[in-house]
Amino acid sequence: MRVLGIETSCDETGIAIYDDEQGLLAHQLYSQIELHADYGGVVPELASRDHVKKTIPLIQAAMAQADCRPEDIDGVAYTAGPGLVGALLVGATIGRSLAYAWNVPAVPVHHMEGHLLAPMLEENPPEFPFVAVLVSGGHTMIVEVQGIGAYQILGESIDDAAGEAFDKTAKLMGLDYPGGPLLARLAEKGTQGRFRFPRPMTDRPGLDMSFSGLKTFAANTIAAHDNDEQTRADIAYAFQEAVCDTLVIKCRRALEQTGLKRIVIAGGVSANQRLRADLAQLAQKVGGAVYYPRTEFCTDNGAMIAYAGMQRFKNGEVSGLAVQATPRWPIDQLQAIHS
Ligand code: KG4
Ligand code: ZN
Repeated sequence: MRVLGIETSCDETGIAIYDDEQGLLAHQLYSQIELHADYGGVVPELASRDHVKKTIPLIQAAMAQADCRPEDIDGVAYTAGPGLVGALLVGATIGRSLAYAWNVPAVPVHHMEGHLLAPMLEENPPEFPFVAVLVSGGHTMIVEVQGIGAYQILGESIDDAAGEAFDKTAKLMGLDYPGGPLLARLAEKGTQGRFRFPRPMTDRPGLDMSFSGLKTFAANTIAAHDNDEQTRADIAYAFQEAVCDTLVIKCRRALEQTGLKRIVIAGGVSANQRLRADLAQLAQKVGGAVYYPRTEFCTDNGAMIAYAGMQRFKNGEVSGLAVQATPRWPIDQLQAIHS
């Protein structure tokens, strides 16, 4: 079986073709970063308009890359949410229409399930069950994963997502959008111990998190010190350390609570080297292991959508002719696949 995957939930147009025997056949990505850079964040209307321009040419490029004709495609998977409704509608409408024209089924895919399953595209994929630390620009949650679709949210951010906190703090430091990766690079030159940021909500039980206070703490620290390069690096270091420490503390509790030892990190912030190293250390302590996607599949992409869609098709899930775009869609409402 061969699935075309379409991702347009935010500021990346991602297209991929996944074959259940041969694996990933094609993968095309267009990032709108430059389009939104002047605004310091994603402008939804501009995002939708750009997806309108890019989606079909990228599908054509992916078909050419995989040497596929329309009759070689057995199903179309599109991101149906969560995300920006206008952006979602572009991929959903094109995906549903192509499936109709090609006389194949279509399936709506949950964006965060796509992220969660992205490590399955790697050579050494995690076995179920595991604890997933989902850290993107829009969501941050710790999920107990018993199988595909069997998700129990153990805790989540009650305000900013981890990626959002990275981006907002980076903006305060004058870095371009999206600042997460730039702040991480700046932190590499930082000195340990010069500043100490709080580890929010770690002094009380539970797995919920809060990251919005860190950006305020960063703003106050920036205002109270000189703006030289070393100070900026030291602030970046302390901020990143606080986010990673908080996630490690919450993840450790999730492992204790569930008795699980395998950790999956996914979503844009799983590209963060410090977070990967810290969670690898935690996994080692409990005799477990940590899994994450290759860097290009940490952030939004079509491959994870094609893969997640493939699993849904194999479970016999197909949608009717309706176009589904669901901006708010809790991950624990998905149908569990019993293998
Ligand atoms: O998953 P994603 O591509 O989009 C959403 O679904 O939200 O995540 C994007 C987020 C942005 O906030 C970006 O700054 C962050 O992931 N990010 C990083 C790094 N790479 C991407 N944050 C920290 N360190 C990184 N290396
Ligand atoms: Zn995402």
